[in-house]
Amino acid sequence: MKRTLGVCYYPEHWPEEIWADDAGRMANAGLTWVRIGEFAWSKLEPTPGDLRFEWLERAIETLGAAGLKVVLGTPTATPPRWMIDRHPGMLAVDAAGNLRKFGSRRHYCFSHSGYLEDCKRIVTLLAERFGRNRHVHAWQTDNEYGCHDTTLSYSDAARDAFRDWLAQRYQSPDALNRAWGNLFWSMEYGDFDEIDLPNQTVTEPNPAHVLAFRRFSSDQVVRFNRAQTEIIRKHSDAPIIHNYMGRVLEFDHFAVGADLDIASWDSYPLGFLSDRLETTAEHKQRFLRQGDPDFQAFHHDLYRAVGAARTAEAAHLGRWWIMEQQPGPVNWAPYNPAPLPGMARLWAWEAFAHGAEAVCYFRWRQAPFAQEQMHAGLLRPDSADAPALAEAAQVTREIGQLPDTGPAKAPVALIFDYASAWAWQAQPQGADFDYFRLVFAAYRALRRAGQSIDILPPGADIHDYRLILAPGLATLPQQLRNARHETKAVVLFGPRTNAKTVEMAIPVPLPPNLPGLDITVARVESLPPSETIPLSGGGAVRHWFEHLEGDAAQVFETTVTGEPVLMGRDTVFYLGAWLDDAGFDQIVGRALAEAGIEPEPLPDGLRMRDTATHRFVFNYAPEPLAYDGTEIPAAGVHWIRK
Ligand code: GAL
Repeated sequence: MKRTLGVCYYPEHWPEEIWADDAGRMANAGLTWVRIGEFAWSKLEPTPGDLRFEWLERAIETLGAAGLKVVLGTPTATPPRWMIDRHPGMLAVDAAGNLRKFGSRRHYCFSHSGYLEDCKRIVTLLAERFGRNRHVHAWQTDNEYGCHDTTLSYSDAARDAFRDWLAQRYQSPDALNRAWGNLFWSMEYGDFDEIDLPNQTVTEPNPAHVLAFRRFSSDQVVRFNRAQTEIIRKHSDAPIIHNYMGRVLEFDHFAVGADLDIASWDSYPLGFLSDRLETTAEHKQRFLRQGDPDFQAFHHDLYRAVGAARTAEAAHLGRWWIMEQQPGPVNWAPYNPAPLPGMARLWAWEAFAHGAEAVCYFRWRQAPFAQEQMHAGLLRPDSADAPALAEAAQVTREIGQLPDTGPAKAPVALIFDYASAWAWQAQPQGADFDYFRLVFAAYRALRRAGQSIDILPPGADIHDYRLILAPGLATLPQQLRNARHETKAVVLFGPRTNAKTVEMAIPVPLPPNLPGLDITVARVESLPPSETIPLSGGGAVRHWFEHLEGDAAQVFETTVTGEPVLMGRDTVFYLGAWLDDAGFDQIVGRALAEAGIEPEPLPDGLRMRDTATHRFVFNYAPEPLAYDGTEIPAAGVHWIRK
């Protein structure tokens, strides 16, 4: 597959006279794709019904004439001001009851039917007009669902839709009362119309209520996106994409992905390191200008699986892109350093090594006005080249020199489940019990051991892997419960596996209740950050500890005081704790050995990814590091034929 680069462009921000020059410079840099249109609603329809599509048509022509392929965005993330007068109830409301007002973006509630109708109208008009345009080669729906905490809304529109959703799911208030355990604290309902959203309660709401609201809110995103894809498909054969984000878990991306042809995500490594990661000050200092060595890779692997959701192809074959790639300092993190020279190139190559078809930099020219005026682009505001332009051009030249690097199925899989994230948020039991953090800790340990990893949704095909890790899955789907029969892989569950029913209650028999494995979690405890429990084989328990019982299973690891931590039988293992990095390294090392995989421990900052034909090695460290006798400079990319 031919890898390509692209850029995000806002023709509406610039005088028409410079469009052709911009397009020519993009083409000269070797760029293939240009994404446009996703915030342009007020320019397309300045007043209700006054449609001005000619400028967009001319922009598409100009870009297409330079040989660029257009990704056309639907503008539904930025409804114009007049829309609020038309639908006063369309604004979202936060959990504290505050209106999320006009004046930035994403000012809408997914549940508002009037706004949804207007979205369908504008998408229909765009799809009719541009669906067969020869330069439009892909579509993007909306922009970054969930960005700025916009998945959950506590508006009246959301409340009414939630009641309908509950009536569909439970059929009778009695069934709902039973499912949620509402006789507790006399919370029983006599009618679906009595049920409110789970905010502004005196103390915590019923976690079953919260979980139902989270499921509902995710479904609303799916429904909103599907309304657009159904329209676009009537008028266009071009693939439809959405640009997801880093560490956004509020909706089920696999479910949204089932309506899309390609998954994409917006990768801002330096911003993420600064504001989206729990880590030490030393780590943040060391990787300040490169980004965390695993955060991007994790999302590449996750969104590759999301990209497979529509075709139900094997997860490693999923189609995915980077729709927005950080080119220089961003504007939105607490501090915004510049990338180390070479990183804009490294990030693109890393994405390709994980199977990305395209990487588009955000944005072409830095805008001198409004909220993002301090956000770098490939050009400066005065149109001179910014540093990342030369790196992008270098990547386009290198792609031509490198033979095709097709995807390979990784030997190791990691299960990722959005509903588990919601369950543990609804009732964490320990203040820092965060699902993403737990799964990411396991992922990092695998990467430190030099592994290539496929991330899989909970219901995925688990054949043909050698090792599968499934930490923190609140409710186990059948095929994972039967893992011992479903796969020959070594499977490592825990902690907190199968610890809740789908209605957020404690199941009996007690968890993990894995067939053929005589293990019971007799008691759990959460630990403050100051408390660690050393393991006998190195490393320690942190955050979460389970007291395990069971005579038939073998104990493989204990605390220094002899309490079991890792138990198992044949190919199935259960880890009853959250571990620190050294602990995870130790347990992952054992699991790899059990699966017959040779770990390749890597120095801090060096990371690897295998494709079908090549091994790629990336140096995220600020100093040169050696791999197999070759010195790789800081920000260096190294590839070897396998
Ligand atoms: C993304 C968003 C873009 C732009 C960018 C800035 O989250 O999709 O529109 O705001 O961040 O880094």
